[in-house]
Amino acid sequence: MTTLLTTPVPAATGDLTLRRGAARVLLTNWTGASTIPSRGLYPHQWSWDSAFIAIGLRHLSVRRAQRELESLLGAQWADGRVPHIVFNPAVPLDAYFPSPDFWRSSRAGAAAGSPAGTETSGIVQPPVHALAAWLVHLADPDTSRRRGFLKRVYGALTAWHDYLTGPRDLGGGRLASVVHPWEAGMDNSPCWDKPLERVEPMTPGSYRRADLDHGQPAERPTDLDYGRYVRLAADYRDAGYTDARGSHAFAIEDPCVNALLIVSEHALARIAAEAGADPARHEARAERLKAALVERLWSPTAGMFLCHDVVGGGLIAERSVAGLVPLVVPGLPPHIVRALIATATGDGFRLGEVPMAPSYDFSGAAFDASRYWRGPAWFNTNWLLERGLRQYGYGSAADALRGAMLTAAGASGFSEYVDPVTAQARGTRNFGWTAALALDLLATAPVANGETDPGRTEGADT
Ligand code: SER
Repeated sequence: MTTLLTTPVPAATGDLTLRRGAARVLLTNWTGASTIPSRGLYPHQWSWDSAFIAIGLRHLSVRRAQRELESLLGAQWADGRVPHIVFNPAVPLDAYFPSPDFWRSSRAGAAAGSPAGTETSGIVQPPVHALAAWLVHLADPDTSRRRGFLKRVYGALTAWHDYLTGPRDLGGGRLASVVHPWEAGMDNSPCWDKPLERVEPMTPGSYRRADLDHGQPAERPTDLDYGRYVRLAADYRDAGYTDARGSHAFAIEDPCVNALLIVSEHALARIAAEAGADPARHEARAERLKAALVERLWSPTAGMFLCHDVVGGGLIAERSVAGLVPLVVPGLPPHIVRALIATATGDGFRLGEVPMAPSYDFSGAAFDASRYWRGPAWFNTNWLLERGLRQYGYGSAADALRGAMLTAAGASGFSEYVDPVTAQARGTRNFGWTAALALDLLATAPVANGETDPGRTEGADT
């Protein structure tokens, strides 16, 4: 039986209503072992969703937050990859596409070490998990130690990072590559428009999009994009989900994915110390990754990090929020931090002027305020920016962003994303990570003795 913690923060009435609403979303979306992102659109367990959800769930129930991460890691492949979806066998096949019979993980992925008893997708998502595990631990270190939580997850998290820094170093420059837009988590980012031109879309009519049963077409990726997503996934499956260099039509070094890997590697060093393992190798790997991030993806001209097209060569000129997320990485050179802040607050992203940072440059030719990752503001990327701002001493900007996010989360019914100017709801509602990250932001409110929640402040430099 799970104990639901009451938070120690004596909040304003509005905060209490928001906290109750956010908690209701997480309790409703809980399946018994994990949390679905949303009832209709995403009815299974998603990888980076689960990590963000655990970060919020720890304020309600530490045991559920641990379970969230451990159920995901339970579907890890023997090669170390953590799949982007773990399918719930009780959900009908036509509820989500691509369904388990498309991925065929237990057969097609057998050589790569897919689990035999659980169906998953064969691709991955950004590595937020070690950061999440560390923050879950900090919420109640005594319970965490008593239950051996970090000792249990350390090996799996290390194998996950070994996979990303090993077989997924497709560019040979010590950064992890994604091989599908879904792996970056920002499915239809304009950054992928050019690289995707090389991909022959799957014939329309050879599959059925289930997402349009639940989402507005104008707020979802186009059919042309979907045809290409399906082609890339089918080709990867038909190649047994192998990661040989040069075998992928799409391979990108993405700054958000690699920044999260660095932050998670620092968290893994702390986890290692708690688990009785050597933290030094993780700190060293985090430093190597940071050097590679700056060397390969920093663009002084763009004033931000850009994506590197491993197949086509060169940096991709499109400016997306992925290039600002490295603000979460500790110890960046001061000139880079200054440039990132200037870009975040400049015409492209207008942070401080609009409620939340858009997912894509306001002045970019492909900007669309409603369509998924082509402009709308998302709560996870803004939560990361809030941490980054705080880490580098921009406390009042972080406070303003925190306030705007909480207002938008409540007013939009915990929507998946919002219009970046009006903060009006877009996408699905009662969305898991929006509720979870609102709960986490609420935990930053000053407590009675004038301190802030240790689970957030102590994690801020990880
Ligand atoms: N985001 C994708 C979807 O919309 C999958 O990860 O289904």
